[in-house]
Amino acid sequence: MPSDTAGSWTPVALSADLPPATVIPAWTPAGAIALWRSQSGRASASSDRCPHRGMRLSHGFVRGEALSCIYHGWSYSVAGGCVRIPAHPDLAPPETIRVAVQRVEESDGIVWVAVGEPALPPPRLGDLVPVRSLTLSAEIAAIETAAGGKANADGLIQLVESPWIRLLPAAQIGGTLVHVLVELERTVADRIMASRIAEALRRRVEKRQKDAA
Ligand code: FES
Repeated sequence: MPSDTAGSWTPVALSADLPPATVIPAWTPAGAIALWRSQSGRASASSDRCPHRGMRLSHGFVRGEALSCIYHGWSYSVAGGCVRIPAHPDLAPPETIRVAVQRVEESDGIVWVAVGEPALPPPRLGDLVPVRSLTLSAEIAAIETAAGGKANADGLIQLVESPWIRLLPAAQIGGTLVHVLVELERTVADRIMASRIAEALRRRVEKRQKDAA
């Protein structure tokens, strides 16, 4: 997880897995978030807790440029302010009704969410393309051991047996979300192979975890 003295960036999802007008649950070291993309294509992140009665906003829905809670339909803007309360359609919601939001940056097919106020932008991975994400029931250190190398300053782990594949991990509760990337010039067949290699690594890591328990 690339960081500086003011904060850090978590690679929470692949851009391709967050189409317009959708919301998904995600996680950063600061807690659970609702990650959503507006109809016009802007990616946003908010706390995964509705200020009204605490429903998870990641269970909600996106209409236009707002995220709505599934419970009573309160809607929140990209900036976090409540913009609509369906039970009181003529009421302008008070500015005090807000959901906490996090900075989001999207580059090279990865959605990054800030924890704190990082002074630097997230790393550029321009010579790599994302293939897929998968969740492993293991910590990052165990994944590094199985891959044969440590994460570099950008958070990327290079597979020693397939150096054209990189893993970009993000710690989660109970495991790790791993984004699989390959070098830009790789073929479609290579990308399929990278996906299978990552699945094999997951089986290996999780078996070791199980055997060690
Ligand atoms: S709990 Fe979200 S609108 Fe009521």
